[in-house]
Order: sequence, then structure tokens, then C-alpha cells
Amino acid sequence: METEIEEQKKYIEKVKKINQNKKQKYSILTMGCQLNENDSEKLCGMLEEMGYEKTENQNEADLSLFNTCCVRENAEDKLFGKLGELKKIKEQRGTIIAIGGCMMQEKHITDKIEKSYPYTDIIFGTHTLHKFPEDLYKAIKDKKRQEDILDIDGKIYEDLPIKRDSNIKASVTIMNGCNNFCSYCIVPYVRGRERSREPKAIIKEVEELAKQGYKEITLLGQNVNSYLRVEREKNIKFEEYEGINSFATLLRAINKIEGIERIRFVSPHPKDFTDDVIEAIADCNKVCKLVHLPLQAGNTKVLKEMNRKYTKEQYLDLVKKMKDKIPNLTLSTDIIVGFPGESDEEFEDTLDVVKKVKFEQVYMFIYSRRIGTPGDKMENQIPEEQKHKRFERLKTLVESQISENNKKYVNTKQKILVEGTSKNNENMLTGRTDSNKVVIFEGDKRLIGNMVELEIVSEHIWYLKGENFDRN
Ligand code: SAH
Ligand code: SF4
Ligand code: F3S
Repeated sequence: METEIEEQKKYIEKVKKINQNKKQKYSILTMGCQLNENDSEKLCGMLEEMGYEKTENQNEADLSLFNTCCVRENAEDKLFGKLGELKKIKEQRGTIIAIGGCMMQEKHITDKIEKSYPYTDIIFGTHTLHKFPEDLYKAIKDKKRQEDILDIDGKIYEDLPIKRDSNIKASVTIMNGCNNFCSYCIVPYVRGRERSREPKAIIKEVEELAKQGYKEITLLGQNVNSYLRVEREKNIKFEEYEGINSFATLLRAINKIEGIERIRFVSPHPKDFTDDVIEAIADCNKVCKLVHLPLQAGNTKVLKEMNRKYTKEQYLDLVKKMKDKIPNLTLSTDIIVGFPGESDEEFEDTLDVVKKVKFEQVYMFIYSRRIGTPGDKMENQIPEEQKHKRFERLKTLVESQISENNKKYVNTKQKILVEGTSKNNENMLTGRTDSNKVVIFEGDKRLIGNMVELEIVSEHIWYLKGENFDRN
């Protein structure tokens, strides 16, 4: 596999040569989850090594790249809109248009691109991201459309170049793919089967990040807490390193890396939240006590139809066990409203769980039919209007809980990782609490990239205001 990356490095050199002294610019639009964002950082790394410079303005780019998501329908409209806009610009300046990511793994989408947007130069999928330099080189050299999509289980590729978005917080993908096949979800079909990175590769990456001054690490995976599970169950060879053979042991090992102050992870699955993981979170001082625990629905029958493999009671028991064992635990979650067959009464169970758990943050989604999933074939689809009504009810409940919850922060001391200046006010700094709440405060710009302790003085729905009393 290393040779495959070596091969791509040769293509990087070739494109770099073509671009010499040409001041080529690229734009990138990333949709979807943090895994996709991390993939985009790798694409940016490759592009910059090939002599491209980033621009935020799609109209002045020589290469316009899209990294797509297909988990819900709205991303499709966005992509096709952008492609439409680019047609004229391409006619004028010959922009290279490249589209990658999850949506490209869907046949009906690539067919549509071929038919309606034939001026697209490169399309590549989730299993061929590492081959982007080769595809680009061929598109430039042969002036021919490149389609590079594989329908396979997938492999792990190490040592791709990377250009990270931040120099304070970094994402580290630890596993890829999903074997859960929740009946609403397209991810297992577009990302392939679960596979984990070697422990040593992860530790080396985090150690390197610590050396570069990164303070916060987010471990990423579609099913992050089942790290190495498939390998263990199916006797797939992996090399144990520093005692790492599970997600819990990985957390403990990363917790020891000097310089790293905070560790987060997304997304775990409730069914894989084993006791060793709960104990590791409780024991590791750097692991944030905000855990994202996707609920999806509160009703046991709906959960069964969704193929989530837990009941309402099991979810609530898990929450209780976690709260008992992890002091100061806060939780966030994902919820889908309007899954096929969900009755008004069953939806009440979702509201009931939200009321009981009091999540720190809830990411709410209206069910979106995805071609190829079992959910799409179910007969009792919920009318749009009803889905929206439920969504609004959930949103009202969540917002009232968040504002109630925010009040608890006032007059407390919170440790903040300072991330930069506030978007709305250059004179204010912004950072986040352990529980991922945004805090705005006045302070010296030299604090950026450091941890500070602040007193929270007021709360607003989407942020808290802090004061730095030991400023001098
Ligand atoms: N692997 C992660 C995240 C997957 S996608 C997990 O299991 O939690 C992120 C979220 O999108 C999901 O948690 C789910 O709430 C939502 N989602 C997935 N498919 C969806 C669909 N068809 N319609 C609406 N929301 C969906
Ligand atoms: Fe989709 Fe379920 Fe896998 Fe998450 S666990 S990616 S929701 S199939
Ligand atoms: Fe979307 Fe793919 Fe992530 S479908 S949510 S970008 S794994």
C-alpha cells in the first residue's frame, strides 16, 4: 500500500511541474461530517503540494473542488446549483471541475452529472481519494474526463499530505466505514465496511500534532467506539502498540501524550458503549466530559425499525450508568423525526427521552429518503407537513432546555481553549468549554491557542460571555 502512495507522490511532482510559475488557485467546498472535513484537509494537502493556492472565491479558481455528502437530500440541490453557476465561468477561463466524496458513490448521481453537467472534469469516490493527483494529472494531460469510483470494502491509506484548517484543534480519523446498516442511512453503502487504522500510526500522528503545538484532538470514525472491534472479532491482523487493542486503550494512550490538553471523539454508537470505554472517559483527565450519544428516536418500536439495536430503556440505562460513573458528564445527541411509520404517540417517546436526559446539544434532522436503503422502501412514509410539525415541537423543547441549561453556567469558572477572535467583534476572543459551549470574552490576542480559566458572567442562547479576572 505504501507503494500506492509513492506512486501518487510521483503524480504530485508531475502536476507541480505543469503548474510551475503559473500561480494556480483552487477553491474547495466541503459538505457533510467531520470525516469529510478531514478528507478535505488531505485533498488540500495534495493540492498545495501540487502548486495550487487556496482561494475562497470560486469564480477566480483554476480548479474548483467539491467534497460531497449524501446523508440527506439537501446537499444534492446545493451541488447541482454550484455546478450550474460554474458552467459560464468554465467557458470563460477553463476551470477544472472536480467532485469527490460520498455522493459520487451513488450511481444515480454520477449518471445525472454525466447527462446534465458533462463539463465536469473529474469525479472520484470515497475509496479513491488518495488517487486524486493521478486523476488530476490525467485530466490535465489527456484533456479527458476522469471517472475514478470503486465499489469495494475499502482500505486505509497512511502518509497522505495534509493541510489542516486550524493550528489549535486537529481531527484524526481512526476508523472508516460502517457495518451497522441503520435502515435510514446511506453511509454504509458509500463508505464501505468498518476498518481501523493501526494503533502505532494514530499515536505517531497525535505525537506529531502535539509537537506542532496542537492542543485539542478529535478522534473520528463513523462508529468510533468500535475501533478495532471487527479486527478482533474476525482475527484480522493488527499490531498492538503500547497496549492498544480497543477504543478504551486508545483513549488511555492518547491521554498520556504530553502537550495535548483535550480529547474528543465522534460518533460513538450506544450499542458499543462498553464499560471499559466509560471507565476510560472517567479516568482520563484530558478526555472531555461531553459525550455525543446519538439517540435517533426515543420509541423502542421505531428504534427496532431503524435497526439501532437498543431500546428506549437500554438507552436511558446507559445514560444513567454513564452519569453515575463520569462526574460532570454532559451529553449531546442526533435525532431524526418522521421515520417511516412513526406515529404521533411514538414521537412522544423521543420528546420524553429529551426531557429526561437534558442534552447539552441536540442535532435535529427531518427524515430524508435515501435511495437504496431499507427505509426508502417502507410503505408508511410520513407526510412532509407532519415531519415539519414534529421538528418544530422538538426544536422548541430543545431550545428551552438549552437556555435553561445555559443559566447553570453563570457564575461558574470554566476552562476555555482560546481559538481566535470572535467573528462578529475583532476585539473579543472566542473559545470553547469542555462541554463545547462557545464563550466570548475580552482578552489579549496572545491567549489564542492557550487554555484560560474564565468566570461566566452571562448567557445567550448560542454562546456564553466570560471574563478573565486574572488578566494581569
Ligand atoms: N455514524 C454516525 C453519524 C452518521 S450521519 C452515527 O451513527 O451517529 C449523522 C446523522 O445524520 C445521524 O446520526 C442521523 O441522525 C442523521 N441521518 C442519517 N441518515 C439520515 C436520513 N436518511 N435522514 C435524516 N437524517 C439522517
Ligand atoms: Fe449510519 Fe447507523 Fe452507521 Fe451511523 S451507525 S453511519 S447512522 S448506519
Ligand atoms: Fe455525509 Fe459521507 Fe459524512 S454521507 S455525513 S460526508 S460519511
